[in-house]
Amino acid sequence: MHASTIFPLPLFASTVAAAAGCTSDQFTALLANHPEATVKFAEAVPQNGSFGQGPTNIPFPTNATQLPALCAVGINVKSSENSSYNFGLFLPDQGWNERFMTTGNGGFGGGINWPDMGRLVQYGFATMSTDTGHSSGVDDGSWGLNAPETLIDWGYRAMHGSVVLSKEIITSYYSNSSSIKYSYYAACSTGGRQGLREVQLYPDSFDGISVGAPAWWSTHLSSSTLWLGLSNTPDTDPKHIDTSLFPVIVDEMTKQCDPQDGVVDGIVSDPYGCNFDFEALLCTAPNATSCLTAAQLTTVYKFYNDWVDANQTYVFPGVALGADPTYLLGSVSNLGTDYFRYFLYGEPDWDKTQFNYRDVQAADAADPGNATADAFDMTPFKERGGKILKYHGTADSLIPTGSSIYFYNKVVQTLRPKGVNIDDFYRFFLVPGMGHCSGTTVDAPYYLSGGSQQLTGATHSVPGYEDADHDIILALMRWVEQDTAPEKLIASKFVNDTASLGVQVQRPLCVYPKQAKYVSGDVNVPESWECKEVYES
Ligand SMILES: *[C@@H]1O[C@H](CO)[C@@H](O)[C@H](O)[C@H]1NC(C)=O
Ligand SMILES: *[C@@H]1O[C@H](CO)[C@@H](O)[C@H](O)[C@H]1NC(C)=O
Ligand SMILES: *[C@@H]1O[C@H](CO)[C@@H](O)[C@H](O)[C@H]1NC(C)=O
Ligand SMILES: *[C@@H]1O[C@H](CO)[C@@H](O)[C@H](O)[C@H]1NC(C)=O
Ligand SMILES: *[C@@H]1O[C@H](CO)[C@@H](O)[C@H](O)[C@H]1NC(C)=O
Ligand SMILES: *[C@@H]1O[C@H](CO)[C@@H](O)[C@H](O)[C@H]1NC(C)=O
Ligand SMILES: *[C@@H]1O[C@H](CO)[C@@H](O)[C@H](O)[C@H]1NC(C)=O
Ligand SMILES: *[C@@H]1O[C@H](CO)[C@@H](O)[C@H](O)[C@H]1NC(C)=O
Repeated sequence: MHASTIFPLPLFASTVAAAAGCTSDQFTALLANHPEATVKFAEAVPQNGSFGQGPTNIPFPTNATQLPALCAVGINVKSSENSSYNFGLFLPDQGWNERFMTTGNGGFGGGINWPDMGRLVQYGFATMSTDTGHSSGVDDGSWGLNAPETLIDWGYRAMHGSVVLSKEIITSYYSNSSSIKYSYYAACSTGGRQGLREVQLYPDSFDGISVGAPAWWSTHLSSSTLWLGLSNTPDTDPKHIDTSLFPVIVDEMTKQCDPQDGVVDGIVSDPYGCNFDFEALLCTAPNATSCLTAAQLTTVYKFYNDWVDANQTYVFPGVALGADPTYLLGSVSNLGTDYFRYFLYGEPDWDKTQFNYRDVQAADAADPGNATADAFDMTPFKERGGKILKYHGTADSLIPTGSSIYFYNKVVQTLRPKGVNIDDFYRFFLVPGMGHCSGTTVDAPYYLSGGSQQLTGATHSVPGYEDADHDIILALMRWVEQDTAPEKLIASKFVNDTASLGVQVQRPLCVYPKQAKYVSGDVNVPESWECKEVYES
């Protein structure tokens, strides 16, 4: 048997069962030493039951379903004189795997992520998520107005406080008969930022984290979102590109960049290796359609190239070639505007059209909520045995893929001179053709059972491939617990993203900077590909 196929489900079926009852009084007693914490509810959920808060939970209105029998708990924690946050726990009645798993949030959203907790509890974990201290939709930052304490909760305090209290509750709930053997984290986007921030500030919190498309550079990501959105306004500017022309741009990029990886399949496997001829987009005759004017082309250049501002200062990467511009260019996202008007300036009427590089500098100076996860020296996390599996889709049109590459390079630049081999604790995977956190418009294999990924008709994991080669949660556990690092991950695309319809394509994702190169055979099976250094042919 190939060594990497071990570690299947079910994991560590254990006999550890809850000792305490699932009542508010029980949890209130467990928290006797924590006057800042209040139990809001404790509800026993039967086998195959569901739990959530319905539409009152704005970012997560869909309840977790088909749950194992468990205790759902809600705790409120006072974090300052005038702020508090909530967190939720799913504590399985039977077969707790003696492990703790935390998940995260998205955008500026405030709400407990019951759906991902529900997927993760299926593995046997006791799972947790915090609402980060406010209730809002993902692109609504109005809660941050004149609320520095709430911003700190969002930045890192709610996550850390929830992790510390959860560990105490879990240990005690299972009658102290077994301690938590390992603690993990899995989430995407803002969730990716939260995981990185937590292990940068508090290296002992987790033994391993799986983070997708992290929104780690809050200051510059918000700047870029606003800057790009404004670049396509007003509609009357000759530089403005109508949304109807976006497919023309993406199609030309696909046409030029897709074949450069050796397989014409609609997937741009190596956008950073593509020598793209932007001028091919230019109109060649007066009144031509499905093409761009020279003025419009400057907007395209800006969008797909790095943002470098005053004094050659690097600000943020452009979007990867081939990624759809609709989200960032089609309108000015609140994810940019709200950061400045509410988090940074506290001026709801702030005029976004005046935005310039000085606002980036102001954001750097303040870093609202201390949210930016830029402590690149992650030696403390590495030294305690911590592992990071990170991934980012190359077709991400919300958080530019290059920001994950930039982060990776910064960590390398910080640690390699100290003699640290990055691959020993931090492995990064680009996911060709995947959008933001999940999904694809080009049938690219992307599914790994990562944070916020889901398949219709499956409760969790990769149906038919519930092993550490295909499931990033299991890959992380194998690395932490058996010291077997993934040399690659096999991503899957299910027909219509539906478990029962079976796998359509699988392909390896390679440890950055290696890339999957087609060797021979059926392009839809992983054995036809090899992970190679980019300079190997
Ligand atoms: C489990 O619950 C779902 C609804 O969430 C229902 O459709 C299904 O029949 C139930 N399965 C069993 C075995 O009870
Ligand atoms: C979600 O779950 C909550 C509590 O478990 C329940 O009150 C609510 O009705 C459910 N909502 C939906 C849409 O199922
Ligand atoms: C909390 O109190 C401080 C000090 O009075 C104030 O600046 C802030 O607006 C209040 N609210 C929050 C949520 O931080
Ligand atoms: C677990 O240990 C803590 C600390 O010693 C104690 O307060 C708590 O009552 C114990 N829990 C159970 C269920 O025995
Ligand atoms: C091009 O468009 C202009 C203005 O819309 C029009 O006057 C002209 O006749 C058009 N030329 C051709 C060749 O269609
Ligand atoms: C660029 O550098 C010059 C000379 O050091 C400095 O005076 C100026 O303030 C810088 N501009 C910005 C926007 O930082
Ligand atoms: C922000 O984090 C830095 C360390 O990165 C710390 O020194 C500072 O006290 C923090 N500020 C707040 C408001 O938490
Ligand atoms: C997949 O979904 C499409 C669009 O909803 C539908 O037309 C097609 O029949 C589905 N394929 C299968 C195999 O169910």
